[in-house]
Amino acid sequence: MSKEQGILNFAVLASGRGGNLLAIIKAVKAGKVRADLKIVISDKKDAFALEHARQAGVPAVHINPKDFPDRESFDRAVIDRLHESQVDFVVLAGYMRLLSVHFIQQFHNRILNIHPSLLPSFKGMHAIRDAFDHGVKVTGPTVHIVVEAMDDGPIIIQEPVRIEPDDTLESLEEKIHHAEHRIYPQAIDLFARGKLKIEGRRVIISA
Ligand code: GAR
Repeated sequence: MSKEQGILNFAVLASGRGGNLLAIIKAVKAGKVRADLKIVISDKKDAFALEHARQAGVPAVHINPKDFPDRESFDRAVIDRLHESQVDFVVLAGYMRLLSVHFIQQFHNRILNIHPSLLPSFKGMHAIRDAFDHGVKVTGPTVHIVVEAMDDGPIIIQEPVRIEPDDTLESLEEKIHHAEHRIYPQAIDLFARGKLKIEGRRVIISA
């Protein structure tokens, strides 16, 4: 995945199984995400996301939070790796750590996140279950720009997913993950091609 002229470099930060990462890797390879994935970083040594990266030939790095006294010094180590890889923007894909203010300022308006509910509903760690338990009829993933407040920030894309009477939590999770794997590459491609203009809370998408 070599750098072409005008193509932005990005990193993925992931803590878990890496379903979104895999969808992003496939989209980069297919030319559907026109940006260069330079590095995948995980705070979890055994995250399967690292394995997906290795299999795709993308540098996969584990940085252990336990090696650092606090969140900011851990984040500074991550930022150093991002700068070494000349990363222009950062994609969070199931990254289960809060970013420090320092990190967010370093990459101001250049960090994307995916959350498995229609924000601002059901923020937090258990969004799919919370929506299911609440009995809402429609939920679905949100891709947004990361700001200091958790699960907040200008919204790029949302995709509604209906909860049908025969859905179980497991079938709903599957539908949401499917939708995530469709919209996250789209949002990354729009961002990478400079198609997003952030105006206050709103993201204007140009053709
Ligand atoms: C995804 O469903 C993502 O929306 C969620 O973690 C999952 C990661 O799956 N993120 C959050 O809940 C962030 N608040 P993956 O490792 O298979 O991509």
